[in-house]
Amino acid sequence: MSIVSIDVRRARTEDAAEIAAVHDAAWRYAYRGILRGIDLERMIQRRGPAWWEKALKRNVMMLVVEVQHRIVGYATLGPSRMHNLPFGGEIYELYVTPEFQGVGLGRRLFEAAFETLERIDLKGLAVRAVKANDLAVGFYEHLGGRPVAESGETIGDRELAVAIFGWPPINAD
Ligand SMILES: CC(C)(COP(=O)(O)OP(=O)(O)OC[C@H]1O[C@@H](n2cnc3c(N)ncnc32)[C@H](O)[C@@H]1OP(=O)(O)O)[C@@H](O)C(=O)NCCC(=O)NCCS
Repeated sequence: MSIVSIDVRRARTEDAAEIAAVHDAAWRYAYRGILRGIDLERMIQRRGPAWWEKALKRNVMMLVVEVQHRIVGYATLGPSRMHNLPFGGEIYELYVTPEFQGVGLGRRLFEAAFETLERIDLKGLAVRAVKANDLAVGFYEHLGGRPVAESGETIGDRELAVAIFGWPPINAD
């Protein structure tokens, strides 16, 4: 019998290179065909290990999921940037490396992020997802996200429609 260890924990500065590798693989997988190749390449280059190290040193709130001590997914989270919506917290990004998708790690990260936000009194959750990213939209719908608003984002030469999903507080009182 083999036991696989899975752990969700706060990210540390020394995780920067592994997180950059997850970002690289997951973004290529998710945005190929949605973004122009050159724009995708530019965005990935910009977010190398040094960028992540700087973000972690600034104490950005970030969780990672490890399988057998290898980082295979991450989530960044904090106060919602959508002040017109009644959600205190936001997951800014949530990515799982392609070969580890579909085995429950995205859900683990999502639930840990939601709970972390609630613990620091950011009640209710909002997430933005590019509409053309079927993986993300299907995932958030499946996890009970209600489409609450729409927005847009310009990346390179593309105008991308963005869906905003909302969840009420876990422990509504
Ligand atoms: C979206 C993403 C994070 C999902 O992670 P994952 O590890 O593959 O998802 P899980 O295996 O934890 O799935 C959790 C549940 O959602 C369901 N699910 C996952 N993706 C789905 C989809 N596209 N459509 C419908 N249901 C989906 C699973 O069947 C599972 O259901 P269950 O727990 O009830 O059995 C992952 O596919 C990913 O990183 N994609 C690329 C990056 C991305 O789009 N990130 C989000 C942008 S913010």
